[in-house]
Amino acid sequence: MKIRWLGQSAFLIEAAGKKIVIDPWIKNNPLCPLELKELFDVDIILVTHGHFDHFGDAIELMSNSRAGMMCDPEISWYMSKYGYVRGERLFPAAQGGTVDMYGVSVSMVPAIHPSAIYGDEWYGRREWLPNSSAVGFVITIDKEPVVYHAGDTALFGDMSLIAKRYCPEVAMLPIGGRFTMDVVDAEEAVGMLRAKYIVPMHYNTNSELVADAEKFKTDVERRYENVDVMLVSPGEELILNREETV
Ligand code: NI
Ligand code: MN
Repeated sequence: MKIRWLGQSAFLIEAAGKKIVIDPWIKNNPLCPLELKELFDVDIILVTHGHFDHFGDAIELMSNSRAGMMCDPEISWYMSKYGYVRGERLFPAAQGGTVDMYGVSVSMVPAIHPSAIYGDEWYGRREWLPNSSAVGFVITIDKEPVVYHAGDTALFGDMSLIAKRYCPEVAMLPIGGRFTMDVVDAEEAVGMLRAKYIVPMHYNTNSELVADAEKFKTDVERRYENVDVMLVSPGEELILNREETV
């Protein structure tokens, strides 16, 4: 599995011949090293919630790719305005639901966070639409590490249920604070999740989201055995394979 962090909560995952982009905020993302057109060949788009730094360029990506998109029902209704049809390229689900997307099993899990839908009306007229959920995703692909992307969330105790139910080996966790967990909260989350690889996200994007990722790495690895915090620069490739278990 090849994982590239694209800044904020955006990730590009390549595995089993599929390209998956999560929270494609690309064009106005100060940390993203890619151009949107480099993602036009993605197969799967996952959107954790409607905030601009997550829903981002999803509409433009849908219109320039053949990808399917999984999101909450409200964002799905919003996307139907652009002609996308449920069951063809739109895969709405709610927390607790699992969808097979072209051979990739994607589960939608809870997150604690407010949201609204920042669609084209936001970029054009600074209008947003109310009421989308905020969720996380668990991605399960045969013979590949199970990936948990927490979305934007506060620390919550049922992360231990996510660990029990899905056994994630890779966890992408927000650490920037203010709108999500900070490094102290994320350290607690690591204890519940027990994923082997932790990839911090949603930090150092702007002056409101600041975290000392190096200290987070040191603190987490000192406290928990067999956990690696993977500090990657935006665009850098991370190759992670399933650990051989006896
Ligand atoms: Ni948000
Ligand atoms: Mn956010």
